Amino acid sequence: MLFKLDTVGDQFLGAELKILTAFQKTATTAAKTTKGAKAAKAESSVSIDHWSDKGLKEEFANLKSAAKFKGAKDETLSFTGATGETVWVVGLGDKTKYEAEDLRKSVAKIYKAAKAGKFSTVAFDVPGFNTLKDEALTTSLIAEAIYLSDYSFDKYKSKKPESAEVTIVFAHVEKKNSAKIEKALASTQNICESINVIKDYVNEAPNVLHSEEYARRVEADVKKNLKGVKIKVLNKAQIQKEKMGMFLSVNAGSAYEPRLVHLTYEPPKSTSKTKHIALVGKGITFDTGGYCVKPGASMAGMKNDMGGSATVYGAFRAAVLEKAPVKITCILAMTDNAINELATTPDAIVTARNGKTCEILNTDAEGRLILGDALDYACDQGPDYIIDAATLTGAALVALGNQVCAILGNDQKWINEILGSAKAQDEYMWQLPIINEWRQDIKSKIADIKNIGTPMRAGTAIGAAFLEEFIKNDIKWAHLDVAGVVDSQSHLPYCSGHGASGLIVRTLTHLLVNAK
Ligand code: BES
Ligand code: MN
Ligand code: ZN
Repeated sequence: MLFKLDTVGDQFLGAELKILTAFQKTATTAAKTTKGAKAAKAESSVSIDHWSDKGLKEEFANLKSAAKFKGAKDETLSFTGATGETVWVVGLGDKTKYEAEDLRKSVAKIYKAAKAGKFSTVAFDVPGFNTLKDEALTTSLIAEAIYLSDYSFDKYKSKKPESAEVTIVFAHVEKKNSAKIEKALASTQNICESINVIKDYVNEAPNVLHSEEYARRVEADVKKNLKGVKIKVLNKAQIQKEKMGMFLSVNAGSAYEPRLVHLTYEPPKSTSKTKHIALVGKGITFDTGGYCVKPGASMAGMKNDMGGSATVYGAFRAAVLEKAPVKITCILAMTDNAINELATTPDAIVTARNGKTCEILNTDAEGRLILGDALDYACDQGPDYIIDAATLTGAALVALGNQVCAILGNDQKWINEILGSAKAQDEYMWQLPIINEWRQDIKSKIADIKNIGTPMRAGTAIGAAFLEEFIKNDIKWAHLDVAGVVDSQSHLPYCSGHGASGLIVRTLTHLLVNAK
């Protein structure tokens, strides 16, 4: 992808395809009814006042089809311009209601159509998209939608879909804004590239991306792209040394060793007062359910069960590239949840890294076992704040569908901060409570805790209450259950309808980059 700025004039840099926008204006006028009484009548008309190119304005006005065109949202009109170029006029509807997420969505649709049309240079008339009255933001939102829509996972297709390099021209941006725009575009590239890297991890087949391979890929990416980041990869012997009995119990039936990837980033001007945030992620490369085996239909797709770790890694990666002003520790706990004669059975009792004993009553509630030990390890790194992300419960889908990410935690201010970043990035996130009754629900009769609560009751919060057992030193902690949002976001045109979504990376990156 090549982005070019056109600040010079009306040339659109000679693009094959020019994208212009139109708004729909609705005027309410008093009109007479047949009986002579007065009634309000809404009349809508199209507005293209913002077009700076007079020639195009005339060409548009001369079109017969333009008479019917109202500029309603997603309404489009195509014509051939005087110099042989294709012009698409895209309706954005009511200018005052057109916001950032609308922009991402329309651009994703436009870009996919442009690609299908095999245009190799596509120019966007930036002033026409700038309803937010911020050229740098508008330009970067257009770029974001394009980067994200451009992703595909086709490495296993013998016949790859044809895909030529597309040059995007941002036309008619103001010269005085160009430095700001270039900077915003560079940030967008860092974030979207990180999102696309982790989408590859999530989409990769589990027989290829098992724990050992996953850790290798992250390590290679860190060494290649994240200068200054320290990386430690704990192998099985080291995880044993850490006494992570819960983590090891999940790995017991695996053909592969577990891995705990430990990354640290220090900002350029780090002092002892610099805020330290730890990110922790569930990296189950495949979840069979263990001896409490999942039925076939619910097992398919469980390669995505490492999505929480991919999400936090994506945010870590983007935040490092963006030189976030906070210290960040990122812990990724990796194993599959597989079955062989050594696999952990239900009724097993294991000792966690923090010394608590845990009765495993369901081997399919494995995420909390690996995360509990990873969270205790993260606490020992001395962070002020922790966020974990996990595809922890099917109950998150029951509660919030597959569009909304669940957030729970032990500190309302910290949760509010994360919710604020989610809002800023237009990613759906909603808080669920953790109540004392649910904390009681995971007490075991014969061990300290058990890994499930009452079946079919508040499953997402029970999972969070279990994780809370491993937070120490009053560290402020929030848990994100990303089970619903990690894949198949068919309602978002800039995500693919199937496979990894890359959602929540934007929220977490925003949080880390803007932390003070
Ligand atoms: N990985 C699953 C949760 C999941 C389910 C993610 C569906 C995405 C889609 C998790 O390990 C799991 O199996 N959870 C159990 C917990 C239960 C046994 C308490 C569940 O949700 O059924
Ligand atoms: Mn499971
Ligand atoms: Zn799982």
